[in-house]
Amino acid sequence: MTALLDAQQISKHFGGVQALQQVSLQVPAGAIIGLIGPNGAGKTTLFNVLTGMVRQDGGSILWRGAPLPVGEPHRVAQAGLVRTFQNIRLFPQMTVLENVMVGFHVRTRAGVLGAWFQSAAVRREEQEIHDRSHEWLAWVGLEAMAHREAGTLPYGAQRRLEMARALATQPALLALDEPVAGMNTVERQSMAQLIARIRERGIALLIIEHDVRWIAQLCDRITVLDYGRCLAEGTPAEIQADARVIEAYLGHKSS
Ligand SMILES: Nc1ncnc2c1ncn2[C@@H]1O[C@H](COP(=O)(O)OP(=O)(O)OP(=O)(O)O)[C@@H](O)[C@H]1O
Ligand SMILES: [Mg+2]
Repeated sequence: MTALLDAQQISKHFGGVQALQQVSLQVPAGAIIGLIGPNGAGKTTLFNVLTGMVRQDGGSILWRGAPLPVGEPHRVAQAGLVRTFQNIRLFPQMTVLENVMVGFHVRTRAGVLGAWFQSAAVRREEQEIHDRSHEWLAWVGLEAMAHREAGTLPYGAQRRLEMARALATQPALLALDEPVAGMNTVERQSMAQLIARIRERGIALLIIEHDVRWIAQLCDRITVLDYGRCLAEGTPAEIQADARVIEAYLGHKSS
């Protein structure tokens, strides 16, 4: 069976730092795949390469069996691979609702510029985007905050908003960079439930996280990076029992 995403032998260096060394990763349609590893292991760099934000030095990325556009994040998003960021990137002065509406413009015919030309068709499209953005906000539990400035939301709510915006682009694969960093136990479990509901919609997820136990309860398979290399790959049970993984975690201080 063809994987939704199939990255083979990805390498990337920054000056003298080998951030990724021949890392391979597959995400089957509808799966939840975990990506773990100590600080500086290359996890975010792999996301940056997969989403076209950073150009790899070597290796190939196939999306539904065809090459993914390199160096073109917008086209990667249109293809259905959308990510969130380790440091939340919202439009803090726009409302919560407007932040989600931005997500829809990845797919609309008119695009953001077209919205300035108020033809009847564009107005209809805008109304639909408005309504569907409300639906997504309700779905992630933020409907009551729709008209607040995004920057005033509590941290956990900002994370959910980022996800609502990403979901509005209708991804086939949602890549989350440390979605529960800085959250307490209750918030982490609530996020785990939201992620499970996203998968129930048929959307695959690729999730970076440091807490092995949290990720293990959610994932089908886990890839472990260490110093830019793939240290291990397997089911959560295999990874939690892997002596090399335990050693890598005991040997580093994770955030
Ligand atoms: N744009 C860049 N320029 C130079 N070096 C970079 C750049 N991006 C990443 N690196 C380096 O590449 C290595 C991997 O970084 P990366 O951010 O991918 O790690 P990470 O696994 O996401 O770590 P963390 O858990 O701390 O988020 C690090 O040594 C980092 O300093
Ligand atoms: Mg990172």
